[in-house]
Amino acid sequence: MPRLSAQMVERARDMIALYPHARSALIPLLHLAQEQDGWVTPEAMEHIAELLDLTPAEVRGTATFYDMLFLEPTGKYLVSICTNIACLLNGAYELLEHAEEKLGVKAGATTPDGNFTIEEVECIALCGSAPCLAVNWRFFGNVSNDGFDHLVDELAAGRLEGDVPPHGTLCRVRRAVGLVGGAPHDAVVEPVQEHTPVEEQH
Ligand code: FES
Repeated sequence: MPRLSAQMVERARDMIALYPHARSALIPLLHLAQEQDGWVTPEAMEHIAELLDLTPAEVRGTATFYDMLFLEPTGKYLVSICTNIACLLNGAYELLEHAEEKLGVKAGATTPDGNFTIEEVECIALCGSAPCLAVNWRFFGNVSNDGFDHLVDELAAGRLEGDVPPHGTLCRVRRAVGLVGGAPHDAVVEPVQEHTPVEEQH
């Protein structure tokens, strides 16, 4: 199982430099590990502990606390289908059933090719466009069965990688917004536009 690559270590060091205390970079570094492998491996946790001068147990204690960090292999695309009240009333369970049929796996499972994991989630705050889902935390509203099929086909063909990065690193972790990792401390960094969620209109 891999530790962080040399390129990831470089990004990690840039992130650590943003904080007065190195340990404050723990969660961003866990997301980096997840971007690299799709999940946070035990070896990556040990490596992060070394980088932050923490114990592996401290790193694991944080990694196990958060739902968005995975400690076992997860699909390249995590399809999170909301079944909370607004979505439920607009066909969320029918959509979930359709998704399971289309991908051939039940919620909680990953397709054999490792491309898609389905999960059932609570409200993702897109109630006005129910039923909705997120793929790697990018949001899609008013999703019909045909729209779902189209979305999956586009993802599988690699045509949406710009909008939906594999393994779904958050734009704040990529430092695409706010302070930029590696910038000189006295540099004035203008915030840039945060990633605009894509809404599937089918
Ligand atoms: S109920 Fe589905 S997004 Fe809120």
